Amino acid sequence: MLTKKLEKVLNEQVEKEGYAAQLYLAMASWADGKGLEGISNWFYAQHMEELEHMLKFVKYINERGGNAIIPKIDQPPREMKGVKQAFEAALEHEQMVTKSINNIVGICLEEKDFTTHNWIQWFVDEQMEEESSVQGLLDKIDLLGDGNLYMFDRDIMGMRAAGESPA
Ligand code: FEO
Repeated sequence: MLTKKLEKVLNEQVEKEGYAAQLYLAMASWADGKGLEGISNWFYAQHMEELEHMLKFVKYINERGGNAIIPKIDQPPREMKGVKQAFEAALEHEQMVTKSINNIVGICLEEKDFTTHNWIQWFVDEQMEEESSVQGLLDKIDLLGDGNLYMFDRDIMGMRAAGESPA
């Protein structure tokens, strides 16, 4: 059984994962509208992955005797300033999510809920991968230079099909 405190922070995480899904969908749609197929595919895939994350939290809360609350989700920005800025915003968002996951890990220890502590380790690893994959793309953008978007878009195309999780 989850403690009230853990139930609350896990529910807050449902909303954060939901917002991440919306944010990536907004980025995907923006890139799609600009004809950047590879970049939009990457963001669409990321959107699907965040939906899965949200679902994992919802199911876990219910499984452990809590009540998952399906939240209202804020509207993400409609416009991005550019490709590099979109990936920078993605990295910043992932760093915020990592902090939030780490905060939950701390609360698991405080509350002596070792089951949730064990369960959430998957997200600890996932956050490390997500930050590193976005950072890798930003490094690539820097390497190619801002003027070489076409090449970056082609390059990223092969990385993930829309809706597919990263390897
Ligand atoms: Fe589910 Fe990208 O954090």
